[in-house]
Amino acid sequence: MKNIRSSLLLLTVLVLSACGGEPPDNRPGQPVAHRRAAFKEILKAFEPMGVMFRTGSFDAAKFQQLTSELMARRDAPWDYFLPDTLYPPSHAKAEVWSEPEKFARAKRDFYAATDRLAAVAGTTDKRTAEAAWSAVETTCKGCHQDFKTR
Ligand code: HEC
Repeated sequence: MKNIRSSLLLLTVLVLSACGGEPPDNRPGQPVAHRRAAFKEILKAFEPMGVMFRTGSFDAAKFQQLTSELMARRDAPWDYFLPDTLYPPSHAKAEVWSEPEKFARAKRDFYAATDRLAAVAGTTDKRTAEAAWSAVETTCKGCHQDFKTR
């Protein structure tokens, strides 16, 4: 009975998420849903830093906190890019799989930039922090340009 109830709950969640106009991820293990959720978590740590810089409200302690959250989340998406996992609702490009070395390079750039961000995370100098943050953003955008449809 408990199983039936939780399957119904899962079904409801799937149907509700399908209402967003996107098909649910019905594959075993839901690799697409997992990697997308993992990227959203990365964004939740990353975006508020950008807001701080844009609105001139740099807070060194908050910057440090968000950076450590980003570092804790940066490994999460990658293992879900399994072979043969390009299907709706994924927004990945086929090049993730057809150009694995290039994808690996984009990932290395991201790791190098986030390492540098972590290295300055204790700074009280807004410009140092912002430069390191922007360098990370460049690697997000660079990879999205080549490997994400939109
Ligand atoms: C090495 C490549 C790469 C890097 C680096 C990268 N991403 Fe992505 N990102 C992707 C790919 C590929 C997708 C599409 C995944 C899918 O839909 O299957 C994606 C999807 C996303 C999504 C959409 C999630 C959703 O709801 O569908 C967000 C948000 C995102 N990335 C944020 C970021 C941020 C922020 C950074 C940098 C801090 C970043 N990404 C760095 C490759 C990358």
